[in-house]
Amino acid sequence: MPAPSSLPFETRVWPVKKLKDFYARSIEQPEEFWAEQAHKLEWSRTWDRVLDWDPPFARWFVGGKLNASYLCVDRHAKTWRRSKVAIYFEGEAGDSRVLSYSTLHREVNRFASVLLNLGVKKGDSVALYLPMIPELPVFMLACARIGAVHTVIFSGFSAQALADRVGDVGARFLVTADGAFRRGKVIPLKATADEATALSPLIEKIIVVTRTGMPVNMTTGRDLRLDDLLANALDHVEPVPVEADHPLYVLYTSGTTGKPKGVVHSTGGYMVHNYAAYQWVFNIREESVYWCTADAGWVTGHSCIVYAPLAHGAAIVLYEGAPDFPAVDRWWDIIEKYGVTILYTSPTAIKMLMGHGEQWLARHDLSSIELLGSVGEPINPEAWQWFYKYVGGERCTIVDTWWQTETGAIMISPAPGIECVPMKPGSATLPLPGVDAAVVDEAGRPAPPGQRGYLVLRKPWPGMLLGLYGDPQRYQAAYWSRFPGAYNTGDYAIQDSDGYFWMLGRADEVLKVSGHRLSTAEIEAAVATHPRVAEAAVVSREHSTKGESIVVFAVLRDSAIPSDRLKGEIADHLRKAIGPIASPDEVDFVTRLPRTRSGKVLRRVLKAVANDTPLGDLSTLEDEASVEDLTRSYRQLKQERAKA
Ligand code: PRX
Repeated sequence: MPAPSSLPFETRVWPVKKLKDFYARSIEQPEEFWAEQAHKLEWSRTWDRVLDWDPPFARWFVGGKLNASYLCVDRHAKTWRRSKVAIYFEGEAGDSRVLSYSTLHREVNRFASVLLNLGVKKGDSVALYLPMIPELPVFMLACARIGAVHTVIFSGFSAQALADRVGDVGARFLVTADGAFRRGKVIPLKATADEATALSPLIEKIIVVTRTGMPVNMTTGRDLRLDDLLANALDHVEPVPVEADHPLYVLYTSGTTGKPKGVVHSTGGYMVHNYAAYQWVFNIREESVYWCTADAGWVTGHSCIVYAPLAHGAAIVLYEGAPDFPAVDRWWDIIEKYGVTILYTSPTAIKMLMGHGEQWLARHDLSSIELLGSVGEPINPEAWQWFYKYVGGERCTIVDTWWQTETGAIMISPAPGIECVPMKPGSATLPLPGVDAAVVDEAGRPAPPGQRGYLVLRKPWPGMLLGLYGDPQRYQAAYWSRFPGAYNTGDYAIQDSDGYFWMLGRADEVLKVSGHRLSTAEIEAAVATHPRVAEAAVVSREHSTKGESIVVFAVLRDSAIPSDRLKGEIADHLRKAIGPIASPDEVDFVTRLPRTRSGKVLRRVLKAVANDTPLGDLSTLEDEASVEDLTRSYRQLKQERAKA
């Protein structure tokens, strides 16, 4: 048995014995530990082996069978929880719907029947392109019920982004809505889905949910109204027990290349890990009213709106709209209306609401709140303090939760469900049980306390991705090649002398804009498809609310004449190609990009120019003139701005 000092954190100074012992056991006897957690769920067949680890591929609970929809709805509908609230839905316009667990159960069955009637089978891919309305979790669970694999595509994505994802995953079925409400406007989702279908002709059937009542084009034989399909649906569909490593979903996220990665999650390991971590982090109780403000199009929504909370039989709030619509106190209003006890959100949202001022909170009774959570990007101490003081009334724990699409479940966070640790504003604190996290240097050796290094995970964990859809080599190369034997998270971190982790953002070429993950390569490829652009490089600039914002450096084709109008056109082109989340803060024209002698674009230099920080070592540059060019045009730009 390893000595306690070999643990990744040393909490001598803190009285957290219970957490420390629990953690130590999870690392020393992982299979026994995770089997114990797995027994908290119901299985149709118990596993033969807890783990098959054939690095970098892990298969958890081998031989076990279960159904995620059964765990999230049937399990509760059989008990007193049938009359408990599952979902409080709040529409942007103030309309609301309350679904009990028995209603949710009935809806999931009926939607599953709709899918079966259309010919969806176990293992088929179903793409879901829906706003934040109850139909989204219901369709996710309906897919899980019949063993179909859902791919949720964020409803803010463009037709091209939708087509790329649908095409990559090979989905023949797409579910969308006529439109979505956003900031009082109606966004035409079905029209975007039609455009995407023209680009990705695999789609055979489109189910259309009526949300806004706006007119839509319906293609005979392909497009079907959900309401019509429900008229012939059965009220009961038997949940199909699937193998523990049967994929529950594929979710696309950005990596360092232009092609998004289809992260594949299992059913067994994913459910076990999420069920356990959710309890540890949120200390969920029967009477909790839990609100995760993320969109279900991201992993946070999958794990922390749908699968973990519903598996616990929790009451969740689902909000359709923008945080500041129709007024900037909309969130505080929702908290008061539903008596929210747990609020889980992002630093970007916190900073935005902080900007509007605490007078908006003072108008509402927020005393129901017991626990606060943050996810998606580093939270700066100032925003943390504001969240703690004004939203939590200085009485609530803040769980700063670090995890990723790939990890499936929360990995590093305070765990008040086990034992409270002293908080440090801006630190995600300690790894959760079963998570062997470490900070290492360039050579993969543990970095000394206080030194920045790469965050790695040294043991497989049940919630980990099965792989990348259709691309095992990329899975190996992206996560397991940089530090042999360890999963490379792509993040920089520091561990302090108490063992606390401080996340320092991405170490690779991935951007975090308002908590959304975007790849520089993906944006660059999109900019380069503009007819007047020869090539482009994209970097991030620090931003007071968004965390990071996008700055584009474009080299124009010879025939193009630089103008502000062209900058605007390029920005629009990008929004159209990827979606509004990819709106650049600035587009700059340069005559050439700074490159190394081997031809690699030196984004570090561009980043320094964009952020107005020292350029650093330029000795590897192919041609120093390009940097002079850049700084000159950038200086000019700043002067123009100052004048304006
Ligand atoms: O850089 C880290 C940041 O978000 C990345 C993962 O992004 P995504 O897969 O979109 O999932 C986000 C929601 C789980 C990480 O590599 N990140 C996530 N949580 C935190 C964070 N950075 C700092 N602190 C966090 N709590």
